[in-house]
Amino acid sequence: MKNIYSLIYILGLTTGAFVSHTAWGQNVPEVIKETVFDINTKKVGAEIPHTMYGIFFEDINYGADGGLYGELLKNRSFEFPQPFMGWKTIGDVELRTGSPFDRCPHYAHLSNRDYKASVLQNEGFFGIGFNKDAEYRLTFYARVPEGGMAELEIHIINTDRDTSSQYASEDKITVSGKEWKKYELKIRSNATIAKGEFRLSLSHAYNNSLDLEHVSLFPAETFKNDENGLRKELAEALESMHPGVFRFPGGCIVEGSRLPLRYQWKNSIGPVENRPLNDNRWQYTFGHRSFPDYFQSYGLGFYEYFRLAEELGAEPLPVLSVGLACQYEGVNEVPLDELQPYIDDVLDLIAFANGDPATNKWAKVRSEMGHDKPFNLKYVAIGNEQWGSTYPEHLKPFIEQVRKQYPDIKIIGSAGPQSEGEEFDFLWPEMKKLKVDLVDEHFYRNEEWFLSLGNRYDKYDRKGPKVFAGEYACHGAENGRNHFQAALCEAAFMTGLERNADVVPMATYAPLFAHVDGWQWRPDAIWFDNLTVAKSCSFIVQSLFSNNKGSHVVPLTMNGKAVAGNEGQKGLFASAVMDDATGELIVKVVNTGEQPQMVNFNLAGFPKGIHNGTVTSLHAADPDAENSVENPLLVTPSTTPFCALDQRAVLPIPAQTFVILRIEK
Ligand code: AHR
Repeated sequence: MKNIYSLIYILGLTTGAFVSHTAWGQNVPEVIKETVFDINTKKVGAEIPHTMYGIFFEDINYGADGGLYGELLKNRSFEFPQPFMGWKTIGDVELRTGSPFDRCPHYAHLSNRDYKASVLQNEGFFGIGFNKDAEYRLTFYARVPEGGMAELEIHIINTDRDTSSQYASEDKITVSGKEWKKYELKIRSNATIAKGEFRLSLSHAYNNSLDLEHVSLFPAETFKNDENGLRKELAEALESMHPGVFRFPGGCIVEGSRLPLRYQWKNSIGPVENRPLNDNRWQYTFGHRSFPDYFQSYGLGFYEYFRLAEELGAEPLPVLSVGLACQYEGVNEVPLDELQPYIDDVLDLIAFANGDPATNKWAKVRSEMGHDKPFNLKYVAIGNEQWGSTYPEHLKPFIEQVRKQYPDIKIIGSAGPQSEGEEFDFLWPEMKKLKVDLVDEHFYRNEEWFLSLGNRYDKYDRKGPKVFAGEYACHGAENGRNHFQAALCEAAFMTGLERNADVVPMATYAPLFAHVDGWQWRPDAIWFDNLTVAKSCSFIVQSLFSNNKGSHVVPLTMNGKAVAGNEGQKGLFASAVMDDATGELIVKVVNTGEQPQMVNFNLAGFPKGIHNGTVTSLHAADPDAENSVENPLLVTPSTTPFCALDQRAVLPIPAQTFVILRIEK
């Protein structure tokens, strides 16, 4: 017997009466109430697939540029419609065209005639975050158009006026020759600055002019130290969840508010300097939260997405345009007889991911980018939140051609933007007719919806396409905030996903990231500013499910019924899985009620003896509590030891709490 908790449980069990367990901080009744969960560990239910709990990434809320993508400078290639947006220019700085990069042709020309200062100063994304003693990698392309040498002074600017020096670093670099060359310099910050800036000044050393292009600044340390890499602490947050599937790059961004503005993956690969800028619809979608400087640099493109999926151990799941722009913005669709380039985009993407570089031009690009081995792509989603008869009409020729050329690829269709209703009811049978492998359902709904639909999938057709819960989040009464209550409702609902893993083999919360100064949509899984990351309660719930996903479902019932918040079930939701790798039973219980519940677990199939385990619980005394960059650890799960005797375990489940029990069988 390992500890005092075990002793308490054993005493309680053997005497038949449970002792009040003050460690839970709640008034647990003295006598075990008749709440019995029957768990049959001998019965092997649906397999929990690797893909079960995943992540969905979209460049919304500055999720990519200014977020996950490590680049610290905004408008590094001077390609924004206002070419010096993001830059302060001082002295003789002008825009010129004709850089070495044909799809990003603009560059800056600096001269210091008459010994005037010529300066370019970048404001980053809501400022630039610098950490004391951390290194940053500056790269740029430059030439001296008149020949000879020029010198750049480089400064990290501490915008905090109270500091004694405005410079948090001082460096110089000499540029020479009329030809464009790439320059690189590591600089170190001597201060931690939340909203710094970055300055390049043409010095007077040579009294010469200078051309500058693709000025880029990354933390020297990125996730897995990839060169065109990701902000480490954000990617590590994703890694901590161990997601099994990674859906990208959207969302509405895939469709574009107009077809030419859709996400075009072919523009997002190859040398990063030559990826053309694209619109970002989240710049203007919500008038009350508009961000005129929000574009897609495509620095974080499809190659980087595939790499990230690989690094996270998740199945990549790209979403591509079906030839329909976002239908919320009106009708803008490709005529059916002009769809071939869009279908080619899907076929070419599969070749890019899986093809042989010796025989396929897109696979060759992948190989030249540094990944000779295939990415082993298994899924493609075609269309995002499309609706009406135009969607199946457009989708059909895609399916025919993908099936013909790549019969093993699983195709994901959409049930539209709503979780039920006329369009949803129209699209599901259409998807069945088209024989898609999975149907992507989205639900941004309130607490009541999540709690009343704990059994949503219990009666779904087991023979048709599977469900991909591709975007969901509880948008509660708290004005879309990531408060604990919303996360608890999501946890309750997710027990229904888990119980129905044979119908719902993948689920991804949405959206994933939000910059505190630049969000358009909330709630979101992970919030951040330039220095700090806060995992929301919802993300913690996602992680708890994913890190305790087990290998197959086992039946768990209360009075013969699934525990899904049904009448008489006291606000309880539950699911159970066995983990073949560890030999543990994993039970997830969510008490959404106002009262603690003492639950008796009947563990059919357990051998005689003491079974050690752990109880992990997530609870907040205040249902409105939320983790923030100011207080990122306000709500965190805690784990204590636990044990069961023979085929019985007893555990008080406090009110408004999500509990995960792991018991060695
Ligand atoms: O997740 C935010 C948006 O919600 C997605 O872009 C879209 O698919 C849905 O409407």
